[in-house]
Parts: sequence; C-alpha cells; structure tokens
Amino acid sequence: MDGLEDRKTKPGLSGRIRQSQLWKSVFRVGLPLDRRGRLRVVIHNFFLHLHPARVATSGLRMTYTFCLGGISAFLFVVLTVTGVFLMFYYVPETGRAYADMKDIGFVVPFGRAMRAMHRWAAHLMVVTVILHMARVFLTGSYKPPREFNWVIGVGLLVLTLLLSFTGYLLPWDQLAFWAITVGTNMAAAVPLLGHEGPLHDLLGATVDNDVRFVLLGDVEVGATALIRFYVLHCVGLPLAALVLMGVHFWRVRKDGGISRPL
Ligand code: HEM
Repeated sequence: MDGLEDRKTKPGLSGRIRQSQLWKSVFRVGLPLDRRGRLRVVIHNFFLHLHPARVATSGLRMTYTFCLGGISAFLFVVLTVTGVFLMFYYVPETGRAYADMKDIGFVVPFGRAMRAMHRWAAHLMVVTVILHMARVFLTGSYKPPREFNWVIGVGLLVLTLLLSFTGYLLPWDQLAFWAITVGTNMAAAVPLLGHEGPLHDLLGATVDNDVRFVLLGDVEVGATALIRFYVLHCVGLPLAALVLMGVHFWRVRKDGGISRPL
C-alpha cells in the first residue's frame, strides 16, 4: 500500500529528469500531442526549427523531388570536408603541386580515399544539380511564386560548374594544364571582353587586359593562374555557394514549401 502511495506522489526517474532545471533549460516546451503544441515544439528547438513546422504530405513523396536538391547539398558538405583534408597536404605552387597530389595518393594515410571521395562527389554533384534542375523544370516548380528561387538556382548551377573548372587545374598535370589552356582560350573569344572576340576594339580589349588575362593573371597558364584558381576553388566560390544555398533553402520555405504535384 505504501509503495502505491509513493508511486502516486513521487514522479519516476524519467519524470524527475524532465522536471529538473537542466532539462527545462534545454527544452522549454514539453511534448504535447495537439497540432498547435507540436508547432510550438518545432519553433522553439534550434535543430527542429531549421525544418519547416508544417510539410505537405505530397512534398514528402520521394518520387516527386527524388531528394535531388538534398543530395546536392549533402555532396557539397562531403566536398567541403574532404577538401579541407586535402588542403593540409596540397601546396598551390608550380614546383610541388603535382608532387603533392602524388604524395596524397601514395604516401598520406587515407589520402587516396580522400582524393577519390572529393573527385567522385564533385562529378556526382554536377550530375545531381542538373537532374534537380530538370526535376524542377518538368514539375513546373519554376513558376510563380518560385521564379526568384529558379534564378538563385541558376547562380548555384554556375557556381557548381566553376568549382569543377577551377578544381581541374589544381593537380597540375598535363590534363589540367591543357584543359585550362583550352577553357581560358574560350574566354579570349567572348564578345567585347575577350581580345579575340567580336567587338573587342570597342572596349580596347588586348591580350594583357582582357577577361582571359583577369582569369589567369598572365597571358598563359602559369603560377599566377594556379594561385588564382586555388583561392577561388577553396575560398571564393564555396563561400558564394554557401550564401546562395542559404538564400535558396530560405526561399523554398518562404515560397510555401516544396511545390505540390498537380
Ligand atoms: C548547389 C545546387 C543546389 C542545391 C544544393 C539545391 C537544393 C535544393 C533543395 C534542398 C530544394 C528542396 C526540394 C528538393 O530537394 O528538390 C530545392 C528546391 C528548389 N530548387 Fe534547388 N538546389 C540547387 C540548384 C538548383 C538549380 C540549378 C535550380 C534551377 C535552375 C534550382 C531551383 C530550385 C527550385 C525552383 C526549387 C523549389 C522547387 C519546388 O518547390 O518544388 N535549384 N533546391
């Protein structure tokens, strides 16, 4: 009888934990079962509030988005983590960049795995971003009110391609050297801004002041191009992508969540 009384008056272990000051300082709101209460829990929790408080069931259907945007974002995280590990060993200097890549492949513990993950994730991200764009187009999700997010998406596509292009030079092997030579020669043929392009006279573009020169920092691929591509690849472009992704995800929420299938 005494035991029963005790159970009625004293809360159990989980009850005592949930009533402690420590628990209450972390979780301000309990776990209510009603809809309004559940919304409050999501809004007051740092990790949960990153997600929308309400999601349409149709938006959760795997076959609508194929999670292609989410997979692209995940690959970006993989690229950042593996890229930072590669930065510990790689020095963007013409005399040692190639040797550093070889060391990463043959000497550094797990170096080969890190580099392979970085390369595979980079190739995959280009594929998933293009497929994501195709999904958005085919489901008509670019239409109002999501037209601005489509434009942000185009920015993200360009940044993804530029990240691939700038990373291409870093191994500093024959493939890298000639690929970037060809790629930047194409910039020389851009109208107005390239010294070989149509109307180049109008702005006075020459071999040592045109858009190709800005990219390379020189009239041909060399040490200045390597450091420029390295800084763009490791700092400038990832930061720009991070900012645009933040705006992109925020807009998905503000535009009423993921669009509904017809
Ligand atoms: C780094 C590249 C990108 C990332 C990480 C990304 C991420 C995402 C994520 C997570 C979503 C939520 C729905 C989903 O997973 O499909 C989304 C939606 C959307 N994305 Fe992207 N995206 C990227 C590139 C693009 C591109 C290239 C476009 C188009 C040019 C685009 C346009 C849109 C639009 C319009 C929506 C809203 C779709 C809807 O409501 O159904 N995104 N994106």
